[in-house]
Amino acid sequence: MALPSRVTIVDVGPRDGLQNEKQTVPSDIKIGLVERLQEAGLREIEVTSYVSPKWVPQMADNAQVMAGVRRRPGVRYSVLTPNMQGFEAAVALDRAFWPDEIVVFGAASEAFSQRNINCSIAQSIERFRPVVAAARDKGVFVRGAMSCVVGCPYEGEVAPERVEMLAGMMKDIGVQHVGVADTIGVGTPSKVQRAMEATLRHYAIDEISGHFHDTYGQALANTLASLEMGVWHFDTSVAGLGGCPYAKGATGNVATEDVVYMLQGMGIDTGIDLDALIDAGQYISDFLQRPSGSRVARAMLAKRG
Ligand code: HMG
Ligand code: MG
Repeated sequence: MALPSRVTIVDVGPRDGLQNEKQTVPSDIKIGLVERLQEAGLREIEVTSYVSPKWVPQMADNAQVMAGVRRRPGVRYSVLTPNMQGFEAAVALDRAFWPDEIVVFGAASEAFSQRNINCSIAQSIERFRPVVAAARDKGVFVRGAMSCVVGCPYEGEVAPERVEMLAGMMKDIGVQHVGVADTIGVGTPSKVQRAMEATLRHYAIDEISGHFHDTYGQALANTLASLEMGVWHFDTSVAGLGGCPYAKGATGNVATEDVVYMLQGMGIDTGIDLDALIDAGQYISDFLQRPSGSRVARAMLAKRG
């Protein structure tokens, strides 16, 4: 199959990247990160999540961050909303501050569903159902994240049938696009392709994203394996920030810089300015006082001197 000629990247760094950060990241820094990402040409940014501040304290300033970003026309801002309480909070502000897209997040593994959102897979779908309906009624796009599509930190290997089942449930309640997420980065290309194939039984190729954590260094290979199937949406995290609080030892998503560099080298358009993106990554790495997790950023910064 011919590779896609363009790719859409959702930078999930401000949310997936920062949610697990132990030190408090002030709202202004988060806002500064979102604004630098949009300057670099990102057209989709996952900004924050409306989850319990007891579970994920770093995202407690969700409303301040959403209200503080100077928005750019043409950029889609998304947030995580696991239940009606989260959705109502996300649309409580003036419409100008609403997210363009919400994300409901389920898992292909029962144990992960319990640890992450405190309910079974079936219960999670029942919680998402009114969220999806309310969002679509208000014209807010609905994306679904499917965690642990190849492996689970508690259950081990996850069969493609589980992914197919979850994708079917997401489709049934009206989720418009799904992310195939390797939460703990254990996937290898053929396993990821099987998870994609399972998802394709319910969603078209244009409605599927790859979301690959890079814990085992497989994320670029998994991105390429997905591109070869025609997938052209990917979630990535600037500077490779991140890790999930309910997946011990899991590291961040593949770095946006590394994916953009790979795609540019393959002649695939992303609309992203790599130099400006590296500046955005440097901004947050400087704040966190650690080197970027992006190999490309480190190489290019070394050349800048
Ligand atoms: P629960 O305890 O089952 O909910 O949590 P509850 O309805 O029983 O409510 C209990 C308390 O939580 C109450 O407060 C509620 O007000 C509050 P209390 O009366 O005890 O003071 N509460 C909320 N507060 C704020 N916003 C809300 C909300 N809902 C209830 N929306 C819940 C269920 C899902 C809320 C909880 O388990 C939670 O917040 N979990 C955190 C999940 C999370 O953020 N995980 C990380 C993101 S997912 C991810 O990273 C994976 C992804 O990247 C894909 C991949 O890589 O796999 C997307
Ligand atoms: Mg993730």
